[in-house]
Amino acid sequence: MKRTLAAETTSAVEKEVLLQGWVNTRRDHGKIIFLDLRDRSGVVQLVIVPSTSKESKPTFEVSHITAEDVIEVVGLVKERPAGMVNDKIATGRVEIEVQSVKIISRARELPFPIDTDGYEVNEEVRMKYRYLDIRRPRMRENLRLRSRVTTLIRNFLTERDFVEVETPILTKTTPEGARDFIVPSRLQKGKFYALPQSPQQYKQLLMVAGLERYFQIARCFRDEDPRRDRAYGEFTQLDLEMSFVTQGDLLQLTEELFTKVVSELFPEKHITQSPWPRIPHKEAKEKYGTDKPDVRKDKNDAGELAFAWTIDFPLFTQQSKEDFYYGSGKAKFAPSHHMFTAPHPDDIELLDKDPLKVRGLQHDLVLNGYEVGGGSIRIHQAEIQEKVFDLIGFTPAQKVQFAHMLTAFTYGVPPHGGIAPGIDRFLMAALGEPSVREVMAFPSSSSGQTSVMDAPSVVSKDQLKELGITVATLKKK
Ligand code: AMO
Repeated sequence: MKRTLAAETTSAVEKEVLLQGWVNTRRDHGKIIFLDLRDRSGVVQLVIVPSTSKESKPTFEVSHITAEDVIEVVGLVKERPAGMVNDKIATGRVEIEVQSVKIISRARELPFPIDTDGYEVNEEVRMKYRYLDIRRPRMRENLRLRSRVTTLIRNFLTERDFVEVETPILTKTTPEGARDFIVPSRLQKGKFYALPQSPQQYKQLLMVAGLERYFQIARCFRDEDPRRDRAYGEFTQLDLEMSFVTQGDLLQLTEELFTKVVSELFPEKHITQSPWPRIPHKEAKEKYGTDKPDVRKDKNDAGELAFAWTIDFPLFTQQSKEDFYYGSGKAKFAPSHHMFTAPHPDDIELLDKDPLKVRGLQHDLVLNGYEVGGGSIRIHQAEIQEKVFDLIGFTPAQKVQFAHMLTAFTYGVPPHGGIAPGIDRFLMAALGEPSVREVMAFPSSSSGQTSVMDAPSVVSKDQLKELGITVATLKKK
């Protein structure tokens, strides 16, 4: 017999069905036992009258079935009597009169309840047993919604002639402002790859390559302290780049895309204002005291999604100690966004005279007070790129690391720009979840430990030897 899903039982009344799934709940009512069977489609009630005498048929033993066992059931779909209909579940007007039950796999008692929203459970424990944590309806819904969002994005962009390209994970660093994760090379001992903080340089090289419209649902890796809205280690961006466009074109495309995402996938939410306000950086700081203004009309209204753009950022900020990864550490200036962001064409002359006055063609996408995306029109002239490298204090050795970009720019480069909305952060803000970890399948804990697998871990001496690495245990001071 073919498997029927729980949700399909409502259109199979009076039919015999085979169901497979988990025991969601068990309720014993004297001689009758009710089990809720759960599968990916939802739950359906099973009614079991166990055999008490030799004459009753069918006979099967259910006394030892407990919650979260995986079972297979054959039974008859019945309309429930009028008074027994349960409006709270989609299959609430039917139940399954069970003819036989088989336990496929038994479940031990779970380390925490999964019929709650889970916020009350200790996070380390949730991450250790993340595969159980994902059984809770809220987590499963979040992951389903995430999949719908990325599918919609893919369809939207491919219909508009974008090409999805996978860029390398073993690569050289893109200095985006965080520490790199590095990976030792076996073939070239003593040398290291870096995991990309974003595909920034590759996407610009794809513009030189003539693709004109690129996107990727891209994994990014940054070794920075986690926060509620900042995953430790890795996160996902919708990374995109376009040639021959203005900043206005990029903002419009992003606006159309996310308006569609909200109207199709978050129907219970509404966007506060369309077109989205474009707020100059100076005004945002003066009026809201932040460069990511929360422009919701009513912050108690969970249905409100207030998108806004922050534009006209200064190209540079004063370099601070945290900006050590740029330049020599002695330079005055650090890029507001990143070093590939183009100066406003009216301000080019100020690069020499008063760099802090130069506006950059940066755009930040803000949602309910979170920075959910960042991007810019890029520099496409080698001489301006070099000037920016100088202003942020790059040493000649550091410049050499970017020689490929300057070389690429000598072979005919289209003006280009892009944006990278964070998928995790967007979902967190749109769903009103308290942390990005609530919309990721297997995030790292706030102490940097990966869920379930418990990395980082030690590796064998042989592995280290092959890589030519000796680990010196540093003594604590
Ligand atoms: P940026 O560094 O601003 O830009 O990142 C873009 C967006 O990525 C998301 N994000 C994160 N989400 C979760 N956890 C993190 N640790 C994390 N870090 C960043 C945010 C952020 O707005 N290459 C440029 C983009 C470009 O210029 O096109 C870049 O990466 O939502």
